[in-house]
Amino acid sequence: PFDWYREMREENPVRYDADRGSWDVFRYDDVKRILDDDATFSVNPRLANDFVEPDNPGEGLIFDTMLFQDPPRHDELRGVVDDQFRPRTLREREPHFRELAHDLLDTAVAEGGDEMEVVSDLAYPFPVTVIAELLGVPADERDRFKEWSDTLVAAASDDDASEAFLERQQQAQMEMAQYFVEMIADRRENPRDDLLSRIVTAELSDGSRLSREEALGMCILLLVAGNITTTNLIANAVRCFADAGGDLFDRLRGDERGLTTALEEVLRYRSPVQAMTRIAAEDVELRGETIEEGDRIIVWLGSANRDGRQFDAADEFRPDRSPTQQLGFGHGTHYCLGAPLARLEAEIALTGLLDRTEEIRVADDDLRPTRSSFVYGVESLPIRYDER
Ligand code: HEM
Repeated sequence: PFDWYREMREENPVRYDADRGSWDVFRYDDVKRILDDDATFSVNPRLANDFVEPDNPGEGLIFDTMLFQDPPRHDELRGVVDDQFRPRTLREREPHFRELAHDLLDTAVAEGGDEMEVVSDLAYPFPVTVIAELLGVPADERDRFKEWSDTLVAAASDDDASEAFLERQQQAQMEMAQYFVEMIADRRENPRDDLLSRIVTAELSDGSRLSREEALGMCILLLVAGNITTTNLIANAVRCFADAGGDLFDRLRGDERGLTTALEEVLRYRSPVQAMTRIAAEDVELRGETIEEGDRIIVWLGSANRDGRQFDAADEFRPDRSPTQQLGFGHGTHYCLGAPLARLEAEIALTGLLDRTEEIRVADDDLRPTRSSFVYGVESLPIRYDER
């Protein structure tokens, strides 16, 4: 998409796409301005003049979560889980997360010899397992949990619209919802030291608690927002480092700070989330165009992150670029809640990979991109390497 972004940034930085029926915004400054002003640019899809209430009840639940609520409701909902995603809280679980990644990598190396498929061996199962653990899904339920996730991911990325496929989708969604409803009831009775207990027991400012539906929506949000995104960050990082060539992998091995900086650059250069949506809450002017109340606006993070007005040599991957002010996790009120977790997971996954391998090369020059234009990454990433 990057050539298209460049053309749009120069020629049509704010434009109405009649086919899609929405506005597109491409430049860094404009994107940031929109994300800074949530009174004018709302996340609430119900404000859109073409909004139709979805018949899929799962989707409706999502609209009541923090991601789609403006302040003050947003702040209340985010406050329920906020401290659970702070770096300090995560640090307590870090040794365990490392074990999870190491188990996956040990299996992949033992079975694959000098080959690995980064997505299915590591980048996909790792974040799913981490979030399952955080929520409090018991170990013996995790396979079932992963199967539901697989189906939900397929729903988000597959164009298969056959009846059998859709039926399987709905079946998995219902099973998963049912499972969480039972877990929610259980944690209300017997709270434990897990995220789910926090979600069901937290008191809002008026002394109330989340309803069952709101708690369920929060669980689904954490799964949907945190899994495919982190999968793509990990896989995109492997790709960027391999493409960079030279001895980048060697230089990053053992250099935790260097790796952290390089991962920020991956978030800028190959942003897993390329775009997000806002709704104009009132008529507003942007670069001479009048956006009307209720219009949908697609904010292209992936383009903002390549804007030469903000970044020197924006189309170059520079692993030591710093500070970057990249927008890969968004900006402002809805800045990614899971950013510290995603950064930690990516650091753990890459460190584990670097510790076991040498001379990593991408083993397929015909990588298939993910099918959603809002998510940037590849469906699979076979690599070859020498074992260390
Ligand atoms: C919000 C990206 C990982 C949970 C966001 C937003 C972006 C983003 C761009 C802003 C959405 C908007 O403003 O409309 C990413 C990327 C990730 C990642 C690139 C991985 C590399 C995670 C993880 C979790 C998570 C691991 C949790 C387990 C959330 C939540 C929100 C959010 C709950 C909504 C925050 C709010 O509305 O205040 N993410 N995310 N994300 N993300 Fe992430």
